[in-house]
Amino acid sequence: MAKPKVYATHSLFAAARQILEESCEVEYWTDPERPPREEVLRRVKDKEGLVCLLTEKINEEFLQAAPKLRIVANVAVGFDNIDVAACTKRGVAATNTPGVLDETTADFAWTLLMAVARRLAEGEALARSGNWKNWNLDQLVGTDVWGKTLGIVGFGRIGRSVARRAGGFQMRIIYTDALRAAPEVEKELKVEFREMNALLAEADFISVHVPLLPETRGLFDSSKFQRMKRTAFLINTSRGPVVNEAALVAALESGTIAGAALDVYENEPLIHPGLKRTNVVLAPHMASASLETRTKMACMAAGNVVALFKGQRPANILNPEVLKSS
Ligand code: DGY
Repeated sequence: MAKPKVYATHSLFAAARQILEESCEVEYWTDPERPPREEVLRRVKDKEGLVCLLTEKINEEFLQAAPKLRIVANVAVGFDNIDVAACTKRGVAATNTPGVLDETTADFAWTLLMAVARRLAEGEALARSGNWKNWNLDQLVGTDVWGKTLGIVGFGRIGRSVARRAGGFQMRIIYTDALRAAPEVEKELKVEFREMNALLAEADFISVHVPLLPETRGLFDSSKFQRMKRTAFLINTSRGPVVNEAALVAALESGTIAGAALDVYENEPLIHPGLKRTNVVLAPHMASASLETRTKMACMAAGNVVALFKGQRPANILNPEVLKSS
């Protein structure tokens, strides 16, 4: 029997290719640059499966171009690039890669937090520049992290992994979320629930871990920055549009907040020029980028595709209702 045809918009990792190729005929985009939209639309015409990255927008136009498509497997936990309702309407399964990147992403949220508090980017630039003349008492003095208050916005798996790490810094941990965590979880992680405004007023570091949804788009706007301490820092490893970048730039310029550390942006890969300041640490959407984790993500996506074609339920299906009708 002919193997189902799959298009992968990346060459993935060898382990993921092996999973896919056992039961699918796979065509890969192998160029280091992301593929042009027209190229992807052309390639998916005769494909039944797609493995894609968060850079591909899977919308009505895309689905129309891929009439045979049965599954879209995103190699990311966030799936705001996929119109899941449109997939469901056409009976196309959509999957993501939850869980495997939590610890790696939490590590990186901490990397950013520490870097902005302790002015690592400025120190590194000085050390490399050849202009470091001598040690001095007030040189590159930053802000202590230990003993401060960490505010976590969005207390899902990644937010909780960030909280777990804070104990080692003797921090007080407060969090907010649409749903309050169970008392046992609060006790185990030594966290206290706060309404959003209370958290903004109390936290010295605010780390954002919400998905991008209509209700979280622009969540951090000027009114939120106004409520933060002037000494506080914002760390965002979730999705760029959760923060209104123009409002963030204004808050940084006016000294309404002390600084920010960002991995994600409103219009990636563009970065608002006003963010290129010494009190902002910038990273290019790399929080889950360890070889181990990215390999696991790719294997998970491949596993979802293979499961569907074997007539099984993909482990990470976002719209299980499509399975009933197939
Ligand atoms: C995701 O998975 O959603 C990240 O942004 C990339 O790892």
